[in-house]
Amino acid sequence: MNLRSVVELRRKLHGKRVIVRVDFNVPMRNMGEILDDFRIRRALPTIEFLLKNRARVIILSHLSRPSLQTRSKFRLDDVSQRLSELLGRRVLYIPDVVGKKAMKAVQALQDSEILVLENLRFYRGETKNDSDFAKKLASFGDYYVNEAFSNCHRKHASMVGIPKYLPSFAGMDLLQEVKLVEKMLVKPKKPSLAIVGGAKISSKLPVLKKLIKRFDAVIVGGGIANTLLLASGKKTGRSLVETKMVDSLRALVKNKKLLLPFDYVCAREIHKKSKAKICNADSLDKYDRIVDIGPETIRLYLELISQAKMIVWAGPMGVYEIQQFSAGSEMIAQAVAESKEFTLVGGGDTIDCIDRFSDKKNFTHVSTGGSALLEFIAKEKLVALRPLMKKSI
Ligand code: 3PG
Repeated sequence: MNLRSVVELRRKLHGKRVIVRVDFNVPMRNMGEILDDFRIRRALPTIEFLLKNRARVIILSHLSRPSLQTRSKFRLDDVSQRLSELLGRRVLYIPDVVGKKAMKAVQALQDSEILVLENLRFYRGETKNDSDFAKKLASFGDYYVNEAFSNCHRKHASMVGIPKYLPSFAGMDLLQEVKLVEKMLVKPKKPSLAIVGGAKISSKLPVLKKLIKRFDAVIVGGGIANTLLLASGKKTGRSLVETKMVDSLRALVKNKKLLLPFDYVCAREIHKKSKAKICNADSLDKYDRIVDIGPETIRLYLELISQAKMIVWAGPMGVYEIQQFSAGSEMIAQAVAESKEFTLVGGGDTIDCIDRFSDKKNFTHVSTGGSALLEFIAKEKLVALRPLMKKSI
C-alpha cells in the first residue's frame, strides 16, 4: 500500500497548521488515572517531527464511547497532561472541538505550539461522519495527518471526512504498522505460525480464515477454541461457546493447518476461588467449563513457537486474569517473547497479557490496533487508509 508519508511535508511545515488525528483511546481507571500510555508514546515521533519543523499542531482524538451521562469521565485533560509530560513541553488543552473557544485557540496557535481539542465523540457528527462537522474541523488546518492506525476501521468524520478537504498524510507509526502487517501477509517466512485466542469466534472468523490460508499453522485457545471444539464434535460442557456459529465451522475444523487444544484446564465456575483440574474431551463432564489450554497442549504449542520463523499472536488462551487459569496465556506470552524471529502481536487483551507476563520490548512489533489490526489482516485494507494513498490525489 503506497501511502503519503508525513515526512514528505518536511520543508513545507513552517508556520502551517497541521491537524493530527491520533488514537489516545487509552485504558483509564476512574479519576483519570491512565493505565497504559503506549498509544500516546507511539504518536510522539510524528508530533515531535512536526514541532521541530515549526508547524502548529492541533491534536484530535476520541476517548472511549462517551454518552451524555458519562462525558465528564472522558475529557481529554488527563491525556493532554500525559502528552505534555512525555513531550517535555507545554500542551494547550481546550475543552471544545468546533465551537468559538476551539476556533480562537486554533487562531492563536504559534509556530511549534501544540493544542489538544476535546474528545471528538462528544459530537454525533464524528461517528455519523457528518460532512459539515468534517468541514469545520478541516478549516482549522493546512494539512491533515492520520496517526491513528487503531481507529482506521472507523468511517468517522475525523478519519475519512477531513481528508476530503485537506492534503492528507500518514503518520510515522501508522506507516510502520501498515508496512509490517503487509510484510507478514505477503510472504510469511516459513514455517509461519498464527496464535489466535480470545472469547468470540464471530469477531475473529475472517482473520482466522485469512491466517489459515497464508500461514503454515494456526493454533487456537480461549472461547474461540471452545466453539471450534464443539464444531469438531467434542464435548465442551458449560464452556463459553457460540452455538450459532457451530454449523458454519464444520468444514474449517477439518483443515489440517488448524490445531485445536487436546487437553484443557477446567473449572465448575469462573471465579478466583474456583478449583482448577486438567481434563480432556473424554474426562470433561457436563458441568465443566474450559478456562485454559492444558499442559500437553501447551507443550505442543511451545514447540511450534520455538520452530516458527514468523509469529502473529492475537488473543489470550483462557481466563488469564485469574491466576489458576492463566498458565496457557503466560507460557505463550513468554515463549513468543523469547523467539528471536519476527513476532507481531495486537489487541487489548493480548497487550494486557504481555504487560502481566512479559514486556512489550520483547516483541518485534506490538500493534496499537485491536479490531483495526484484525480487519486489516482479514481484508488487507481499511477505510481510513484509502485517502492517504498516493494515487488518491
Ligand atoms: C480501539 O481502541 O480499538 C479504537 O480506539 C476504536 O475504538 P472503538 O472500538 O470504540 O471505535
